[in-house]
Formats: sequence, C-alpha cells, structure tokens
Amino acid sequence: MNLQKLDPGKIGKREIIRILETTHPDELREIYDYACKIRNETIGNKVYTRALIELSNKCQKDCLYCGIRASNNKVKRYELSDEEVLKTVNGALAEGYKSFVIQSGERQDSAFVNRISQLLQQIQKFGDNKIRITLSCGEQHPETYIKWKKAGADRYLLRFESSDQKLFETIHPNNQKHKYNDRIAAIVNLRKAGFQVGSGMMIGLPGQTLEMLADDLCFLKELDVHMVGMGPFLEHPDTPLSKSGTGIHESERYRLALLCVSALRILMPKINIAAATALDSINAMGRLDAIEAGANVLMPNCTPLNVRENYFLYKKKSHLTESRQLLQKFISNQNNRGFILNMNAWGDSRAYKN
Ligand code: 5AD
Repeated sequence: MNLQKLDPGKIGKREIIRILETTHPDELREIYDYACKIRNETIGNKVYTRALIELSNKCQKDCLYCGIRASNNKVKRYELSDEEVLKTVNGALAEGYKSFVIQSGERQDSAFVNRISQLLQQIQKFGDNKIRITLSCGEQHPETYIKWKKAGADRYLLRFESSDQKLFETIHPNNQKHKYNDRIAAIVNLRKAGFQVGSGMMIGLPGQTLEMLADDLCFLKELDVHMVGMGPFLEHPDTPLSKSGTGIHESERYRLALLCVSALRILMPKINIAAATALDSINAMGRLDAIEAGANVLMPNCTPLNVRENYFLYKKKSHLTESRQLLQKFISNQNNRGFILNMNAWGDSRAYKN
C-alpha cells in the first residue's frame, strides 16, 4: 500500500479496510510509523495521562460481555466512599496527575446522580479548579449530563460498542434498557451539554467483520468525537458472550486493535486516542504498542487496590500493575520509542473547540 497517498483526514472506508487487512510485519510497522508521523506533525509527540478511579461496580445494565453486569452474582459489589475517592485523588495529585477519569457501573437513580455532582465539586475544589475531570458513567438523562457538566466534569466517555445495530443487539439483552438508538442519542446529548466527548468500540466481537470495523471508524468521524477509546474484546468467563467464542484469535484482535488506532489517527489526526488497557491483557507491552501505533493518551489505573479485583469488566492480567510501575515503564521507553510522557498538562483534545 502506498501510504503517502493516504491523506490525513481524507481517507475513506476502502482505504481503512485495506489498512485493516494488513498482516505482514514490515507493512504493519510502516503503517504504525506513518500514523505516528501524522500524530507528531499534527498534535505533537506528547503522551498525556489520566488517573483512572473505578468508583463503583454496581450496575443496572446487563451487557452480555461485561463482568460487572447486573446478573453476575459472583461479583462482590462495592462503592468507594467520598473519603476513599478524595484520598485517591490526593495521591494522584502528589504523583503529578492533572487529569482524572471517574468510571462507574451505570445507575440513573437520583442518589447516584446527586452523589456524582457532589463528588465533582469536591474533587475540583481539591484540585484547586486546576484539573480536568472525565466521567465514564454510562447513559443518562440529558438533564443529568447538563448537571454533571455544571458540577465540574469536562469530558465524558461513552462507547457505542458497535455502530452496527444488528451486532449491537447481539451483544446486549433485548429490552428497554439496552437500545441502540438510546446509546447514539446519549452521545449526541453529551455533545449538546458541552462536553469533550469520547466514544469507541470493542474489536474482535463474535460476528464482527473488517467492514463493520471500518464503518465504526467512519462513524466516529461522522459523530465528530474529540476522543476515542477502543480495544480488543476479551471474554469474561462469567458472562454469556464468553460462551459463544469469537472465532477471532487474541493475537488477531491485538493486531486489529493497533491497526484501528493507526487508521483512526490517519482519519482524525487531531483527536485524543487512548491506549486501551485491555491490550495489556494480551501483551504486557500492549499500551506501549498502541502509543507506537498513533495513540496519545494513557490512563493508569489508580483505583485503591483493595477493590480493584472487583472491577473486572474482562479477564485481566495486568490488574495489579500500579500506576507508578506503569509510568516508569513509559518513562524508561520514551526516548527510543519517539514520544514524551507529559503528566503536567490537561491534554485537552485539539479537536475540541470551546
Ligand atoms: N472486553 C473488552 N472490553 C470490555 N468492556 C466491557 N466489557 C468488556 C470485555 N469483555 C469495555 C466496553 C465499555 C468499557 C468501559 O469497557 O467497551 O464501554
């Protein structure tokens, strides 16, 4: 493939499929390098960090792939107290983080909605209003998004999981709580509420084709998102979707996930692309490889260790990797891998215009 013909921001579905079909190691390297070149020329070679705090695994949803789905009664449910959250924030501030992600199972009750609002205010106060907060708390009423934005959240992550409605429906229960159109509407509502919006999909789902993945990437462009998180699907043994088997080998999902990062960097040069944590469960160098394929955001897990094993969305291998060890790995690799880890910045998406 003649990479020089792939104009940044201008490739189409056909070119994306050709990128995703690549298997030869030399060609893979060329594509990853080309995507990094575009990243470096457009937004620079800095990698931004966010401290991830997994607030609670209590969830009303029953997604067929997810380890914390409501029907999984093997999970010990937890919810961090305000004190635990603020202690974690404090520790992360001391490590140098300027940006935080609060992730939680999905709940829409008013106790939860109000708790998040209060926590946002407390955390912003703690950070002297000099930090950025991203929420990842699922589908909510448009009013809730507006409320949380006002309370101090800057960004929001909500993956569409698959832009193919039929595939979406095979990985979610068929009921009012899991509607494809509601998911897409929620992403649009987040935009209207003024958030920097992130979305994405899982890669290597049962029945997913290269064409569907190319459509997912084109859909991200159509939605004009500011940030993307996408990673390999990994079976969680206590979920219905682990029984079906995907037919796509883990190493294949890994390659496809990296190629999706590169293709998306060529398609949307200015956006923030996260190195998916799920990659580390297939290969210890996973997140580093994603940065080398064109990603520019790293989200080390800072959740208190005593609850971390209860927040398994998928089978994890690297769950006990502490934030500090992960950062060390990145710092020691940055020179020969052509990026600079920059903790001391918000790292707002360059695709976001306030
Ligand atoms: N494998 C990979 N990713 C998963 N997620 C949930 N379950 C799995 C799984 N089994 C991802 C979803 C969700 C994000 C928070 O975690 O894409 O949006």
